[in-house]
This record gives sequence, structure tokens and C-alpha cells, in this order.
Amino acid sequence: MTDDELSPRVVTSARLDDDDFEVGLRPRTLDAYIGQKRLRENLEVAIAATRQRVEALDHVLLYGPPGLGKTTLAYVIGNELGVPVRTTAGPVLEKPGDLAGILTNLSEHEVLFIDEIHRLNPAIEEILYPAMEDYELDIVIGQGPGARSVKVPLKHFTLIGATTRAGLLTSPLRSRFGIVHRLDFYREEDLQEIIRRSAEIFDVPVEVDATAEIASRSRGTPRVANRLLRRVRDFAQVRADGIVTRQVALGALEMLEIDANGFDEADRRLLKAVIEKFGGGPVGLNSIAAAISEEKEAIEDIYEPFLIQIGFLDRTPRGRVATGRAYDYFGLPVPDGEGRLW
Ligand code: ADE
Repeated sequence: MTDDELSPRVVTSARLDDDDFEVGLRPRTLDAYIGQKRLRENLEVAIAATRQRVEALDHVLLYGPPGLGKTTLAYVIGNELGVPVRTTAGPVLEKPGDLAGILTNLSEHEVLFIDEIHRLNPAIEEILYPAMEDYELDIVIGQGPGARSVKVPLKHFTLIGATTRAGLLTSPLRSRFGIVHRLDFYREEDLQEIIRRSAEIFDVPVEVDATAEIASRSRGTPRVANRLLRRVRDFAQVRADGIVTRQVALGALEMLEIDANGFDEADRRLLKAVIEKFGGGPVGLNSIAAAISEEKEAIEDIYEPFLIQIGFLDRTPRGRVATGRAYDYFGLPVPDGEGRLW
């Protein structure tokens, strides 16, 4: 099968989704990649060693909340290795043949990036095991007693898998990755640097304290920082003289209803529901999702990790609990009931 025969939904060499607007901002080298220092150092060593040995890089698993740069890193790794990157995603691979087609088309040392790898269906996942471990496909030909298994050799390739939560991966899959890294929320200094870099690419003047203001409301997430920068740039262009001063940034952020913590309307609704509808918790994810009409997955992947990280929400074995900080935020008295630690 050639590339042309593969459905364009199944494999792309450039990603076509809502990350598209990010593409022009993506760093292409590890040197240009800001933040995640430990991860960068580890990758630098692994990539340099692999290049010296002229081998395929070990398979890499990247996990962490959305928007932290997993896809960006996959392309950086490909670029640093000097090989192309094929991109696909767990949910778009429908049949084992979809993945088999991609794998047999890979060239030596090429990178295959599978986004949302936790959403692969089990029959497809099984194809990956021998492909990752021995660089071969096990294909069963025929049915019943006459069926026989044929091994098809594959080129030595690197699989980069990305997932929002490593816990959702089956253990046979997880154990086949030689390099496993979690991406953390970014420090504010790093976000400021990312905003400065993006502003330069956009060729928009942004004053230092405006950069700080945008960074502090970006939820530790470069994708959010870049999105806010775009909105602030629009505001500066239409409502001011094009220069992003702190006042302009504040005006734009207020109009977007992004507060000093970086919360938007959905975060506030979530916290308010836990406090007002469920007495501060503990409350289960299903109940929260129903109360605020949001998808469970969006709550778990997007809202919760940040609310937990900044200490507004806690996850206990009995459910989610609003912390004292969450009560303070709404100007509500903090209950001091039994079992509460605050
Ligand atoms: N744009 C988005 N994420 C980035 C990062 N980590 N470094 C540089 N630019 C970025």
C-alpha cells in the first residue's frame, strides 16, 4: 500500500486540527524549546547517542495535560534526529489494517507520532506490540485450522505516543516505551519567554509588564499563553494603537472574562457547583459533569489538573473537594467541618 492509498484521515504529515494556529509558533529545535528543562536534557542525551550509533531512537511516551507541547516535542525530536514525522491519532485508526498500512510504509529511523494513544482500540494496540519490540508485524492469513501467521519485517522506526493521562494506557503498551516523560505545567518565567518569542514572530510590540500579566493568567500552558496573546493583540489593534501595554492587556483579559488566576467562566462554574450544590464535596466526577453540563473527559483533562495544581480543588478517594482557597475566592466562609484539613 502506498501513502496515497491511505485515507487522509488516518495519517497526515502535517496536523490539521484546532492546533493549526499554533504551527507557526512551534519551536523546531530543542535549543529553541523553552521550559521543561529536565525533559529537554534527557532528550538531548538520548538523541545525540542515537545519532552517533546511527540507530532509531527508543520509543518515547509523552504524557501530561493538553497544550503543554507534546505534539511540538514530537516534531522537535524528528527534526533533531533528521527524520520525517508521520502523525496519526488513536481515535482515527479504525481497523488494524489502518495501522499496518502506516507501519509498512515507514522508512528507516522515521518517527511515527500517535496522539491520544490511550484511545487506540485493543485490536489495533496488539499490532503495536511486536512492531515496537521486534520491528515486525504478525499477520494472520486465512481462518480456522488452515490459518497461519506470517511475520512481516518493518523498518527500525521510533514511535512517539502522546496521552493526557499515562494511567489510561494498558501496561503492555506502557512497558514498551524506553523513554517516558511527563510534561509539567510551565513556570511563569518560561511562559513569559514563550510570549516574548511569539510576540516577536507576530511582530507585535508587547511591554514587559503586559507579558507578565498574560503569563500569570495562562494556566501554566503555552497554548493558552499564545491564545491570550492573539486576543490581546486584536484588542490592541482595534481599541488602542497596536502596542500591548499592561493596560491594554488588562482590558482585553477583562473582556475575555479571564481573571487573575487564569480562570474562565467554566472553571468558576465548576468550583461554584462543588461548593454550592455539593456542600464543598466530596463529590464524584459524574455528578460534577452533570451539574455543569461539561464532558467528563474535559473536566478530567483540562479543568481539574490546573485547579488541583493551584490548590483550589483536591482529589480524594471519596471524590473531589473544594479547598479553603476556593471558598476564599468566592468570598465565602471556609467551613471547618469534620475531616477537613483546612
Ligand atoms: N511555543 C509553544 N510551546 C513552546 C515552548 N515550550 N517553547 C517555545 N515556544 C513554544
